[in-house]
Amino acid sequence: MPNAYISGTGYYVPPTIVTNDDLVETYGVETSHEWIVKRTGIEARRFAEDGVGTAELGFEAAKDALASAGLTISDIDMIVFATLSPDYAFPGSGVLMQRMFKVAELETPKFIPALDVRNQCSGFLYGLATASSMVQSGGCKHVLLVGAEKHSAALDITTRGRTVSSLFGDGAGAVVVSATDEDRGMRKWTLGADGRHAEELCQKVWDTSKRPFITLDENGNGIVPPEDMFANMNGRLVFKNAVEKMIVALWEICSDQGIGPNDIDMLFFHQANMRINQYVQKQLGLPDEKVMHNIDRYGNTTAATIPILLAEAERDGKLKPGMKVAMVAFGSGFTWGAALVDW
Ligand code: UT7
Repeated sequence: MPNAYISGTGYYVPPTIVTNDDLVETYGVETSHEWIVKRTGIEARRFAEDGVGTAELGFEAAKDALASAGLTISDIDMIVFATLSPDYAFPGSGVLMQRMFKVAELETPKFIPALDVRNQCSGFLYGLATASSMVQSGGCKHVLLVGAEKHSAALDITTRGRTVSSLFGDGAGAVVVSATDEDRGMRKWTLGADGRHAEELCQKVWDTSKRPFITLDENGNGIVPPEDMFANMNGRLVFKNAVEKMIVALWEICSDQGIGPNDIDMLFFHQANMRINQYVQKQLGLPDEKVMHNIDRYGNTTAATIPILLAEAERDGKLKPGMKVAMVAFGSGFTWGAALVDW
Protein backbone atom coordinates (compact mmCIF):
# COMPACT_ATOMS: atom_id res chain seq x y z
CA MET A 1 0.00 0.00 0.00
CA PRO A 2 1.54 3.38 -0.95
CA ASN A 3 1.68 6.20 1.55
CA ALA A 4 -0.26 9.41 0.82
CA TYR A 5 1.56 12.69 1.35
CA ILE A 6 0.90 16.34 0.59
CA SER A 7 3.13 17.07 -2.39
CA GLY A 8 2.00 20.66 -3.00
CA THR A 9 0.12 23.50 -1.34
CA GLY A 10 -1.52 26.61 -2.75
CA TYR A 11 -3.89 29.40 -1.89
CA TYR A 12 -5.72 32.39 -3.24
CA VAL A 13 -7.45 35.23 -1.45
CA PRO A 14 -9.25 38.00 -3.37
CA PRO A 15 -7.56 41.40 -3.23
CA THR A 16 -10.36 43.43 -1.58
CA ILE A 17 -9.73 43.79 2.15
CA VAL A 18 -12.76 44.54 4.34
CA THR A 19 -11.79 45.68 7.83
CA ASN A 20 -14.03 45.66 10.87
CA ASP A 21 -14.28 49.43 10.52
CA ASP A 22 -15.44 48.95 6.90
CA LEU A 23 -18.35 46.84 8.19
CA VAL A 24 -19.41 49.88 10.22
CA GLU A 25 -18.57 52.65 7.76
CA THR A 26 -19.32 51.07 4.37
CA TYR A 27 -22.04 48.56 5.29
CA GLY A 28 -23.65 50.41 8.21
CA VAL A 29 -23.44 47.44 10.62
CA GLU A 30 -23.80 48.41 14.28
CA THR A 31 -20.62 46.74 15.53
CA SER A 32 -17.10 47.79 16.44
CA HIS A 33 -13.54 46.72 15.78
CA GLU A 34 -13.09 46.18 19.53
CA TRP A 35 -16.15 43.87 19.83
CA ILE A 36 -15.13 41.66 16.94
CA VAL A 37 -11.44 41.45 17.90
CA LYS A 38 -12.18 40.74 21.55
CA ARG A 39 -14.67 37.93 20.79
CA THR A 40 -13.04 36.38 17.71
CA GLY A 41 -9.57 37.77 16.92
CA ILE A 42 -10.75 38.86 13.45
CA GLU A 43 -9.42 42.21 12.18
CA ALA A 44 -10.24 41.92 8.46
CA ARG A 45 -11.51 39.55 5.82
CA ARG A 46 -11.44 39.43 2.00
CA PHE A 47 -14.49 39.80 -0.25
CA ALA A 48 -14.33 38.57 -3.85
CA GLU A 49 -15.60 40.84 -6.57
CA ASP A 50 -18.93 40.38 -8.35
CA GLY A 51 -18.67 37.86 -11.16
CA VAL A 52 -16.16 35.68 -9.32
CA GLY A 53 -17.64 32.52 -7.84
CA THR A 54 -16.38 29.78 -5.54
CA ALA A 55 -15.05 27.54 -8.32
CA GLU A 56 -12.95 30.39 -9.68
CA LEU A 57 -11.39 31.06 -6.26
CA GLY A 58 -10.66 27.34 -6.02
CA PHE A 59 -9.16 27.36 -9.54
CA GLU A 60 -6.60 30.02 -8.54
CA ALA A 61 -5.59 28.08 -5.42
CA ALA A 62 -5.46 24.80 -7.36
CA LYS A 63 -3.06 26.26 -9.98
CA ASP A 64 -0.80 27.42 -7.14
CA ALA A 65 -0.85 23.95 -5.51
CA LEU A 66 -0.09 22.20 -8.81
CA ALA A 67 2.87 24.50 -9.43
CA SER A 68 4.14 23.86 -5.91
CA ALA A 69 3.88 20.08 -6.48
CA GLY A 70 5.66 20.40 -9.84
CA LEU A 71 2.66 18.84 -11.60
CA THR A 72 0.15 19.84 -14.25
CA ILE A 73 -3.58 19.21 -14.26
CA SER A 74 -3.01 16.26 -16.63
CA ASP A 75 -1.25 14.44 -13.78
CA ILE A 76 -4.35 14.63 -11.58
CA ASP A 77 -6.53 11.52 -11.24
CA MET A 78 -9.29 13.07 -9.16
CA ILE A 79 -10.59 16.42 -7.91
CA VAL A 80 -12.12 16.73 -4.45
CA PHE A 81 -13.78 20.11 -3.88
CA ALA A 82 -14.88 21.05 -0.35
CA THR A 83 -17.24 24.00 0.08
CA LEU A 84 -20.37 25.18 1.85
CA SER A 85 -20.87 27.98 -0.66
CA PRO A 86 -21.08 26.09 -3.99
CA ASP A 87 -21.62 28.18 -7.11
CA TYR A 88 -24.93 26.40 -7.80
CA ALA A 89 -27.29 24.00 -6.00
CA PHE A 90 -25.99 21.54 -8.58
CA PRO A 91 -23.78 20.55 -10.29
CA GLY A 92 -20.96 20.89 -7.77
CA SER A 93 -18.14 23.40 -7.91
CA GLY A 94 -15.68 20.56 -8.63
CA VAL A 95 -16.90 20.13 -12.19
CA LEU A 96 -17.02 23.90 -12.72
CA MET A 97 -13.39 24.14 -11.66
CA GLN A 98 -12.47 21.14 -13.81
CA ARG A 99 -13.99 22.99 -16.81
CA MET A 100 -11.76 26.01 -16.10
CA PHE A 101 -8.72 23.77 -16.55
CA LYS A 102 -10.04 22.88 -20.06
CA VAL A 103 -8.95 19.25 -19.61
CA ALA A 104 -11.80 17.96 -21.76
CA GLU A 105 -10.46 20.10 -24.64
CA LEU A 106 -6.90 18.76 -24.58
CA GLU A 107 -5.61 16.89 -27.63
CA THR A 108 -5.95 13.80 -25.45
CA PRO A 109 -9.00 14.76 -23.37
CA LYS A 110 -8.89 13.89 -19.70
CA PHE A 111 -12.23 13.58 -17.93
CA ILE A 112 -10.96 13.95 -14.36
CA PRO A 113 -13.63 12.82 -11.89
CA ALA A 114 -14.77 15.58 -9.56
CA LEU A 115 -16.30 15.00 -6.14
CA ASP A 116 -17.87 17.76 -4.03
CA VAL A 117 -17.57 17.44 -0.24
CA ARG A 118 -20.29 19.21 1.78
CA ASN A 119 -18.95 19.18 5.32
CA GLN A 120 -18.62 22.89 5.98
CA CYS A 121 -15.78 23.84 8.34
CA SER A 122 -14.63 20.22 8.49
CA GLY A 123 -14.79 19.92 4.69
CA PHE A 124 -11.05 20.07 4.15
CA LEU A 125 -10.37 17.28 6.66
CA TYR A 126 -13.20 15.13 5.30
CA GLY A 127 -11.65 15.77 1.87
CA LEU A 128 -8.14 14.95 3.11
CA ALA A 129 -9.33 11.62 4.55
CA THR A 130 -11.05 10.86 1.22
CA ALA A 131 -8.08 11.91 -0.93
CA SER A 132 -5.57 9.98 1.23
CA SER A 133 -7.72 6.85 1.14
CA MET A 134 -8.04 7.11 -2.66
CA VAL A 135 -4.24 7.30 -2.93
CA GLN A 136 -3.52 4.57 -0.36
CA SER A 137 -5.97 2.21 -2.09
CA GLY A 138 -3.96 2.57 -5.29
CA GLY A 139 -6.97 4.05 -7.12
CA CYS A 140 -5.29 7.43 -7.67
CA LYS A 141 -1.70 8.65 -7.85
CA HIS A 142 -2.44 12.36 -7.42
CA VAL A 143 -5.62 13.91 -5.99
CA LEU A 144 -6.24 17.66 -6.17
CA LEU A 145 -8.04 18.69 -2.99
CA VAL A 146 -9.53 22.19 -2.83
CA GLY A 147 -11.32 24.07 -0.06
CA ALA A 148 -12.96 27.26 -1.33
CA GLU A 149 -15.65 29.67 -0.20
CA LYS A 150 -17.32 32.77 -1.50
CA HIS A 151 -19.17 33.61 1.68
CA SER A 152 -19.67 37.28 0.90
CA ALA A 153 -22.41 36.51 -1.63
CA ALA A 154 -24.63 35.00 1.07
CA LEU A 155 -23.88 37.08 4.17
CA ASP A 156 -26.46 39.33 5.77
CA ILE A 157 -24.09 42.27 6.19
CA THR A 158 -26.49 44.30 8.32
CA THR A 159 -26.99 44.76 12.06
CA ARG A 160 -29.59 41.97 11.92
CA GLY A 161 -27.01 39.51 10.58
CA ARG A 162 -23.91 40.78 12.39
CA THR A 163 -23.40 37.75 14.67
CA VAL A 164 -22.69 35.61 11.61
CA SER A 165 -21.61 38.05 8.93
CA SER A 166 -18.79 39.63 10.93
CA LEU A 167 -17.06 36.22 11.13
CA PHE A 168 -16.75 35.05 7.53
CA GLY A 169 -14.57 35.88 4.53
CA ASP A 170 -13.78 34.60 1.03
CA GLY A 171 -10.76 32.55 0.04
CA ALA A 172 -9.44 29.26 -1.24
CA GLY A 173 -6.71 26.79 -0.39
CA ALA A 174 -5.59 23.63 -2.16
CA VAL A 175 -3.24 20.71 -1.75
CA VAL A 176 -2.14 17.85 -3.94
CA VAL A 177 -2.22 14.46 -2.21
CA SER A 178 0.21 12.06 -3.90
CA ALA A 179 1.37 8.46 -3.64
CA THR A 180 4.84 7.70 -2.33
CA ASP A 181 6.84 4.66 -1.27
CA GLU A 182 8.70 6.83 1.27
CA ASP A 183 7.88 6.45 4.95
CA ARG A 184 5.97 9.76 5.30
CA GLY A 185 2.59 11.40 4.85
CA MET A 186 -0.78 10.56 6.38
CA ARG A 187 -0.47 8.66 9.67
CA LYS A 188 -3.95 8.91 11.10
CA TRP A 189 -7.20 10.73 10.50
CA THR A 190 -10.39 10.77 12.51
CA LEU A 191 -13.77 12.19 11.54
CA GLY A 192 -16.98 12.65 13.52
CA ALA A 193 -20.51 14.02 13.20
CA ASP A 194 -23.44 14.69 15.49
CA GLY A 195 -26.54 15.36 13.40
CA ARG A 196 -28.64 16.15 16.46
CA HIS A 197 -27.32 19.71 16.14
CA ALA A 198 -27.84 20.09 12.38
CA GLU A 199 -29.94 23.25 12.65
CA GLU A 200 -27.73 24.98 15.23
CA LEU A 201 -25.43 26.23 12.48
CA CYS A 202 -27.41 26.07 9.29
CA GLN A 203 -28.30 27.88 6.10
CA LYS A 204 -31.47 26.29 4.76
CA VAL A 205 -32.39 28.45 1.74
CA TRP A 206 -35.04 25.83 0.83
CA ASP A 207 -36.81 22.83 2.35
CA THR A 208 -37.52 19.77 0.19
CA SER A 209 -40.03 18.41 2.72
CA LYS A 210 -42.34 21.08 1.29
CA ARG A 211 -43.79 21.24 -2.21
CA PRO A 212 -42.68 23.52 -3.73
CA PHE A 213 -39.41 23.61 -1.85
CA ILE A 214 -39.44 27.43 -1.92
CA THR A 215 -42.67 29.37 -1.27
CA LEU A 216 -44.01 31.10 -4.38
CA ASP A 217 -45.69 34.49 -4.57
CA GLU A 218 -48.78 35.12 -6.69
CA ASN A 219 -46.60 35.54 -9.80
CA GLY A 220 -44.84 32.21 -9.29
CA ASN A 221 -41.61 33.79 -8.09
CA GLY A 222 -39.80 32.12 -5.20
CA ILE A 223 -39.73 33.98 -1.87
CA VAL A 224 -36.96 33.14 0.57
CA PRO A 225 -37.37 34.79 3.99
CA PRO A 226 -34.15 36.09 5.60
CA GLU A 227 -34.09 33.37 8.27
CA ASP A 228 -33.80 30.76 5.48
CA MET A 229 -31.70 32.80 3.07
CA PHE A 230 -28.87 33.49 5.52
CA ALA A 231 -26.97 31.26 7.94
CA ASN A 232 -28.21 30.99 11.51
CA MET A 233 -25.91 30.05 14.34
CA ASN A 234 -26.20 29.23 18.01
CA GLY A 235 -22.74 30.67 18.68
CA ARG A 236 -22.42 29.59 22.32
CA LEU A 237 -23.38 25.97 21.59
CA VAL A 238 -20.96 25.87 18.65
CA PHE A 239 -18.20 27.30 20.84
CA LYS A 240 -18.74 24.74 23.62
CA ASN A 241 -18.90 21.74 21.28
CA ALA A 242 -15.97 22.93 19.17
CA VAL A 243 -13.65 23.06 22.16
CA GLU A 244 -14.74 19.64 23.43
CA LYS A 245 -14.65 17.78 20.13
CA MET A 246 -11.37 19.28 18.92
CA ILE A 247 -9.56 18.28 22.11
CA VAL A 248 -10.93 14.71 21.93
CA ALA A 249 -10.07 14.38 18.21
CA LEU A 250 -6.50 15.59 18.77
CA TRP A 251 -6.00 13.18 21.69
CA GLU A 252 -7.37 10.37 19.55
CA ILE A 253 -4.89 10.84 16.70
CA CYS A 254 -1.98 11.31 19.12
CA SER A 255 -2.77 8.24 21.20
CA ASP A 256 -3.26 6.15 18.05
CA GLN A 257 0.29 7.08 17.07
CA GLY A 258 1.70 6.65 20.57
CA ILE A 259 2.66 10.32 20.90
CA GLY A 260 1.64 13.19 23.15
CA PRO A 261 0.56 16.70 22.03
CA ASN A 262 4.10 17.87 22.88
CA ASP A 263 5.44 15.76 20.01
CA ILE A 264 3.43 17.77 17.48
CA ASP A 265 5.74 20.19 15.64
CA MET A 266 2.98 22.31 14.05
CA LEU A 267 -0.75 22.45 14.76
CA PHE A 268 -3.13 23.87 12.17
CA PHE A 269 -6.51 24.81 13.59
CA HIS A 270 -9.59 25.59 11.57
CA GLN A 271 -9.86 29.38 11.87
CA ALA A 272 -13.32 30.02 13.31
CA ASN A 273 -12.51 31.87 16.46
CA MET A 274 -9.14 32.75 17.97
CA ARG A 275 -10.57 32.27 21.47
CA ILE A 276 -11.67 28.67 20.74
CA ASN A 277 -8.23 27.84 19.37
CA GLN A 278 -6.36 29.52 22.23
CA TYR A 279 -8.43 27.58 24.74
CA VAL A 280 -7.69 24.24 23.03
CA GLN A 281 -4.00 25.14 22.66
CA LYS A 282 -3.79 25.88 26.37
CA GLN A 283 -5.50 22.62 27.33
CA LEU A 284 -2.96 20.72 25.22
CA GLY A 285 -0.05 22.76 26.60
CA LEU A 286 1.27 23.75 23.17
CA PRO A 287 3.53 26.83 22.84
CA ASP A 288 2.55 29.70 20.49
CA GLU A 289 5.37 29.00 18.01
CA LYS A 290 3.81 25.62 17.14
CA VAL A 291 0.42 27.10 16.24
CA MET A 292 -0.35 29.12 13.09
CA HIS A 293 -3.19 31.64 12.81
CA ASN A 294 -4.47 33.88 10.04
CA ILE A 295 -7.98 34.54 11.31
CA ASP A 296 -6.92 38.14 12.03
CA ARG A 297 -6.41 38.72 8.27
CA TYR A 298 -9.00 36.48 6.60
CA GLY A 299 -11.72 35.69 9.15
CA ASN A 300 -13.37 32.29 8.83
CA THR A 301 -12.98 30.96 5.29
CA THR A 302 -14.55 27.61 6.32
CA ALA A 303 -13.26 24.77 4.08
CA ALA A 304 -10.33 26.96 3.02
CA THR A 305 -8.84 27.85 6.40
CA ILE A 306 -6.49 24.88 6.88
CA PRO A 307 -5.15 24.65 3.31
CA ILE A 308 -4.54 28.43 3.24
CA LEU A 309 -2.61 28.10 6.51
CA LEU A 310 -0.57 25.16 5.19
CA ALA A 311 0.35 27.09 2.04
CA GLU A 312 1.31 30.20 3.99
CA ALA A 313 3.38 28.19 6.48
CA GLU A 314 5.22 26.42 3.67
CA ARG A 315 5.97 29.68 1.88
CA ASP A 316 7.16 31.27 5.14
CA GLY A 317 9.59 28.36 5.65
CA LYS A 318 7.81 27.32 8.86
CA LEU A 319 6.64 23.97 7.52
CA LYS A 320 9.54 21.64 6.75
CA PRO A 321 9.83 18.01 5.63
CA GLY A 322 9.99 15.60 8.55
CA MET A 323 7.75 17.70 10.79
CA LYS A 324 4.87 16.09 12.64
CA VAL A 325 1.85 18.14 11.57
CA ALA A 326 -1.59 18.02 13.15
CA MET A 327 -4.78 19.58 11.77
CA VAL A 328 -8.15 19.91 13.48
CA ALA A 329 -11.54 21.39 12.58
CA PHE A 330 -15.09 21.64 13.87
CA GLY A 331 -18.21 23.10 12.33
CA SER A 332 -21.75 22.88 11.07
CA GLY A 333 -23.41 19.48 11.17
CA PHE A 334 -21.98 19.30 13.77
CA THR A 335 -18.99 17.71 12.06
CA TRP A 336 -15.35 17.56 13.06
CA GLY A 337 -12.08 15.95 12.16
CA ALA A 338 -8.37 15.78 12.86
CA ALA A 339 -5.37 14.44 10.99
CA LEU A 340 -1.74 13.68 11.77
CA VAL A 341 0.75 13.86 8.93
CA ASP A 342 4.53 13.48 8.71
CA TRP A 343 5.32 16.35 6.33
O1 UT7 B 1 -16.67 27.34 12.00
C1 UT7 B 1 -17.62 27.28 13.05
C2 UT7 B 1 -18.30 28.59 13.00
N1 UT7 B 1 -18.63 29.29 14.16
C3 UT7 B 1 -17.98 29.38 15.34
O2 UT7 B 1 -17.02 28.75 15.65
C4 UT7 B 1 -18.57 30.38 16.28
C5 UT7 B 1 -18.42 30.03 17.73
N2 UT7 B 1 -19.02 31.06 18.54
C6 UT7 B 1 -18.51 32.28 18.69
O3 UT7 B 1 -17.44 32.53 18.16
C7 UT7 B 1 -19.24 33.29 19.53
O4 UT7 B 1 -20.42 32.70 20.06
C8 UT7 B 1 -19.60 34.58 18.74
C9 UT7 B 1 -18.32 35.37 18.49
C10 UT7 B 1 -20.24 34.24 17.43
C11 UT7 B 1 -20.56 35.43 19.54
O5 UT7 B 1 -20.03 35.74 20.80
P1 UT7 B 1 -20.95 35.62 22.11
O6 UT7 B 1 -20.14 36.13 23.23
O7 UT7 B 1 -21.43 34.20 22.17
O8 UT7 B 1 -22.11 36.63 21.81
P2 UT7 B 1 -23.68 36.38 21.71
O9 UT7 B 1 -24.03 35.73 20.40
O10 UT7 B 1 -24.19 35.75 22.96
O11 UT7 B 1 -24.19 37.85 21.65
C12 UT7 B 1 -23.97 38.76 22.74
C13 UT7 B 1 -24.40 40.13 22.30
C14 UT7 B 1 -25.79 40.16 21.66
O12 UT7 B 1 -26.43 41.35 22.07
P3 UT7 B 1 -27.55 41.31 23.21
O13 UT7 B 1 -28.61 40.39 22.70
O14 UT7 B 1 -26.84 40.77 24.43
O15 UT7 B 1 -27.96 42.73 23.31
C15 UT7 B 1 -25.50 40.24 20.18
O16 UT7 B 1 -26.52 40.89 19.46
O17 UT7 B 1 -23.49 40.61 21.30
C16 UT7 B 1 -24.24 41.07 20.17
N3 UT7 B 1 -23.46 40.88 18.95
C17 UT7 B 1 -22.65 41.82 18.44
N4 UT7 B 1 -22.36 43.05 18.85
C18 UT7 B 1 -21.52 43.76 18.11
C19 UT7 B 1 -23.38 39.78 18.16
N5 UT7 B 1 -22.56 39.99 17.13
C20 UT7 B 1 -22.09 41.25 17.27
C21 UT7 B 1 -21.22 42.05 16.53
N6 UT7 B 1 -20.94 43.30 16.99
N7 UT7 B 1 -20.61 41.62 15.42
